[in-house]
Amino acid sequence: MNDIQREFLELVADVRTHVEFQKALGVTAIELSSEEAGEAPVSPHSNEPLSAKEVSPGAEGPQSPALDAVRQELGDCTRCKLHQGRKTLVFGEGNPDAALVFIGEGPGFEEDQQGRPFVGAAGELLTKIIEKGMKLRRQDVYICNIVKCRPAGNRNPEPDEIETCVPFLRKQLQAIKPKVIIALGNVAAKALLKTTEGISKIRGTWQTYDNIPLMPTYHPAYLLRNPRDKALVWEDIKQVMAELEKIQKG
Ligand code: URA
Repeated sequence: MNDIQREFLELVADVRTHVEFQKALGVTAIELSSEEAGEAPVSPHSNEPLSAKEVSPGAEGPQSPALDAVRQELGDCTRCKLHQGRKTLVFGEGNPDAALVFIGEGPGFEEDQQGRPFVGAAGELLTKIIEKGMKLRRQDVYICNIVKCRPAGNRNPEPDEIETCVPFLRKQLQAIKPKVIIALGNVAAKALLKTTEGISKIRGTWQTYDNIPLMPTYHPAYLLRNPRDKALVWEDIKQVMAELEKIQKG
C-alpha cells in the first residue's frame, strides 16, 4: 500500500467515526460549518440553559452516608477566594455508586445559578454524549468538577484554588469508588494527573488516578467550538464503554 492509499484509508476511517458519533447523538443531517454553508456565522448551540425537561431528573447533591460526610465537611466553604464570587457551591450529582464519573473544570454561570454541574450549553452536549452516545442515563453516572465554586468570568481555576478543592474531590471519589473516570479537558486532566502535557497529547490514552483507570478527553465546551473533534471524543468514549463492559463481565 502506498502513502496516498494509506492516507485515503485513514480519511475514510475518520469520516466513519465522525458519522458514527453524530448518529449516536441523534444527528440525522450533516452539519456544515457556516463557511461551508455560505451563511453568516451562527452558534451551533444556543447558550440557553437546559430546561428541566432536557436534563434527566437526576439526584441532586449527595445521597450516600460517605458522600454526605464529604458534603458536610465542606460546609459553607470559605477555604479559597472562589467563595467570594459564588452563588452556590456545586458539589456534584448523580449515582453515589456510579461506575463512571465525569470530572469537569468548574461551574459556569448556569451551574452557579442552579447549584448543579454541567447544566449550561456544555452540559447539554455532555448529556447527549452520556444518553445518546453511551446509552446511559445521566443519573446513572456521577458528574462533578475540579473546583466547586465558579471562577469569575469563567476563567481557569488557579493552582491554589485547585489545590484547596481537589482533596474534597478525592474524598468524593473514595466514597463513590468508580471503575472509570473521564477527565474533561485540560484543567481536569492536568489537576488529576499532575502533568504538564496538554489534553491534545494525552487524550485517548489510559491513565490512572488513585489506581482508578482515567481517560482524558476534550471538554464539551471545546467541542462546541471545534465540532470536528467530536470524532476524537467518540473514539475515547468507545474505549471507556469497552472498559466498562469488560469490567462488568468480570
Ligand atoms: N464546565 C465545567 O467544566 N463544569 C461545569 O459544571 C460546567 C461547565
